Amino acid sequence: MSQLKQEVERRRIFGIISHPDAGKTTLTEKLLLHGGAIREAGTVKARKNSKHAKSDWMEIEKQRGISVTSSVMQFIYQDKVVSIMDTPGHNDFGEDTYRVLTSVDSAVMVIDAAKGIETQTKKLFQVCRMRGIPIFTFMNKLDRQAKDPLELMEELEEVLGMPSVAITWPIGSGMQFEGVYDRMKNEVHLFRGEKSTLQLSEDGVNDPVLADHLSEENLTNLRDEIDLLDGAGNEIDVEAIQSGKLTPVFFGTALVDFGVTAFLNHYLDMSPAPEARKSNVGPINPTSEDFSGFVFKIQANMNPAHRDRIAFVRICSGVFERGMDVTLTRTGKKIKLSQSTQLMANDRETVDQAFAGDVIGIYDSGTYQIGDTITTSKQKIAFEALPTFPPELFMRVSPINSLKSKHFHKGVEQLAQEGAIQVYRNEYNEIYLGAVGQLQFEVFEYRLNNEYGVDIRMEPVSYSVARWVKDKELKALKPFQDSRNMLVTDRWERPVFLFANEFTYERFAERHADDLTLVEALDVNEEIGTEE
Ligand code: G4P
Repeated sequence: MSQLKQEVERRRIFGIISHPDAGKTTLTEKLLLHGGAIREAGTVKARKNSKHAKSDWMEIEKQRGISVTSSVMQFIYQDKVVSIMDTPGHNDFGEDTYRVLTSVDSAVMVIDAAKGIETQTKKLFQVCRMRGIPIFTFMNKLDRQAKDPLELMEELEEVLGMPSVAITWPIGSGMQFEGVYDRMKNEVHLFRGEKSTLQLSEDGVNDPVLADHLSEENLTNLRDEIDLLDGAGNEIDVEAIQSGKLTPVFFGTALVDFGVTAFLNHYLDMSPAPEARKSNVGPINPTSEDFSGFVFKIQANMNPAHRDRIAFVRICSGVFERGMDVTLTRTGKKIKLSQSTQLMANDRETVDQAFAGDVIGIYDSGTYQIGDTITTSKQKIAFEALPTFPPELFMRVSPINSLKSKHFHKGVEQLAQEGAIQVYRNEYNEIYLGAVGQLQFEVFEYRLNNEYGVDIRMEPVSYSVARWVKDKELKALKPFQDSRNMLVTDRWERPVFLFANEFTYERFAERHADDLTLVEALDVNEEIGTEE
């Protein structure tokens, strides 16, 4: 097997998602610890009081105790090179989270087993489903009183719109928590005492040895539940899991680091290695000789002392070597990749070589845009565009002190380029922001103030629907403006209509069906074409 093939096959890359406080940071720390990526994870409590988990580095995150931006961490476990893409964990997931999910090969969802599955997660699942990436579910905090596990599975299936299958199963919870049963390995990991593992006979949970270790109530429940799962539950079908049609479920407690190893081992066995990725010239195989990758995130001011920007690139094929020349497909420009970093939150390490399935950070002085493809291929490769999420929330924004307007415009431009928020202008040059989640506005306001020294005024406006217009010049659209819509341009100067609600949009679309094609999003790469 070629070295490249070997390297690709040992790579795994997942996005970790959860609602605030479900335990994402704690689980990440434990995974990193198992992989020896960080010497000392520290308990989460210590982190919250003094130092912060490696992935929480921006000021706003520290102040609010939430993770706003995403970072990437890598560790090696059982010879697999695993990258974890942290995603913002807040109630209204923003575009950032969705975009990260386009760069990974699988997702891990952490759920607080006492709270259950929250419905805002629906959209996240849709993004995973759209790309057919598998979702692994970790039901956390079993050391606390949890909901009935069968009920949790039911909720999960309802929100996910996908069947689930339990790989491990909890034995009690809270004060009565006694361990987890691994259905694939037919073993019980005991929580109490010296935390040993019991290999069961072919009788499975009916093995009499369990009576020596579990309470009568837990044992009866376990036998009933496993009987039910074996009889009426979904079968463990690895192929269905790998193609994102069935979600495997695990139980444990990240805080106590219990059930985490079982999860990690199964994850590594079942999760897909990097596969071919769609592009305008057909699927690009990860083991193809030519290097290629795409920018899925741009982050400015990661280190306030440096005032720099980093473009995060998911490598899709070939080998990256520091100093190599690549072409940026969108502009046709040649670029030397001399400064590249691999990111362990904000501790940077220079990386000399990386493979398909890795993420690298490259220094950016304003060259890259989200969705850009870079490659050493002679073909003009452009990877399938990242989905744009039509914003549903809008604000008018202006600097409080007009003397600061230059800084204001610079900040707006840079944050828009990062993809932190969408920016529109109307004919009076007023600036409107569009977001998918409310928190994007707060982050925007905070960052303009903190990084650009500008206080801003944000005024809610009564629009909630944005539609792009295909194949029409701005000038030709002016006659279509009326009191119930507003014509603006996005940051690529493409015309967009804003409407108060779905109803006004639909009326408008019907009325002008012969003249206008209105779409939810336009592909930034559309003009690149497929010729060599
Ligand atoms: P997040 O990144 O998803 O927001 O969650 P994070 O890991 O920060 O965990 C949120 C809280 O839940 C933390 O408590 C953490 O200790 C606790 N936690 C995480 N996993 C478990 C678990 O398996 N069992 C229990 N019982 N708790 C868990 P905190 O906010 O620091 O409060 P405190 O525990 O220090 O009072």
